[in-house]
Amino acid sequence: MSNIILDISKIDMQFPTPDGPFTALKDVSLKIEEGEFVSLIGHSGCGKSTVLNIVAGLYQATLGGVALEGKEVNEPGPERAVVFQNHSLLPWLTAYQNVELAVDQVFSHANGNYKSKEETKEWIEYNLKLVHMDHAMHKRPDEISGGMKQRVGIARALAMQPKVLLMDEPFGALDALTRAHMQDSLMEIQNELNNTVIMITHDVDEAVLLSDRIVMMTNGPAATIGEILDINLERPRERLALASDIEYNRLRSEVLRFLYEKQRKVDHITKEEKISTKTSASVDGKVENNEAA
Ligand SMILES: Nc1ncnc2c1ncn2[C@@H]1O[C@H](COP(=O)(O)OP(=O)(O)OP(=O)(O)O)[C@@H](O)[C@H]1O
Ligand SMILES: [Mg+2]
Repeated sequence: MSNIILDISKIDMQFPTPDGPFTALKDVSLKIEEGEFVSLIGHSGCGKSTVLNIVAGLYQATLGGVALEGKEVNEPGPERAVVFQNHSLLPWLTAYQNVELAVDQVFSHANGNYKSKEETKEWIEYNLKLVHMDHAMHKRPDEISGGMKQRVGIARALAMQPKVLLMDEPFGALDALTRAHMQDSLMEIQNELNNTVIMITHDVDEAVLLSDRIVMMTNGPAATIGEILDINLERPRERLALASDIEYNRLRSEVLRFLYEKQRKVDHITKEEKISTKTSASVDGKVENNEAA
């Protein structure tokens, strides 16, 4: 029935530190189906980025491993494109050229998927259009807004036609309105292309809105998967309709309960974090509310 594309199996991750090895992750296992949208949620520092970096091949797990379509992952590869929290565009290249650079790496005679000059151009433009960036494709990163840069980063990742799209808080730095636009575009794109996605988020509403499953991580050290929540809301999903949907609100409460009852974390909150305000139910925002209550 299921078609497992990614198998994260019994991962432990230890980092060497001056005080000896630090165990960030302990026994993390997760199987992901092709076309599935999985969110990773958990308190700051629990190990979400570490999981993503291991899947990306940027870190090597201390124990256990990751297999993509049955093949062990031990280095980065274009079939696992990463969108980092802060866009990582090359500042001297235009949006178009940033995407082109990635496309040229993936499509070649050597890889058996060569694209002619004209096909390459069409492909780059198609992907920039998907994220509604076709109007500004010849601008450089310093000439476009943060949200636009993030969209170019997503176009670049999509243009590589990755088997798995890995996103580390892709909308974390965006204002609420831009974030909502980006979430809607991502849902449209995923609906069209059926990408397999792992996305890290701090935003409970974002996780419920976008995911097929929400993977909730326990607090570190030795963090692991605490619970997994299936999100069986019908697609396409409409944020306004969902706001009053009973099942949506039940799922949202489940995640909040996990984070603030079962994995409550109020230590290490600096004064600065307490006074920062967030518009939606983000992990950190909710901690602030608890504190204030
Ligand atoms: N290279 C490293 N060396 C030592 N410790 C590390 C290293 N990278 C991460 N850690 C530690 O591992 C733990 C998990 O870090 P990670 O960045 O994965 O957390 P996170 O869940 O992504 O947090 P955030 O939500 O703040 O991004 C943290 O305690 C962090 O300090
Ligand atoms: Mg992180």
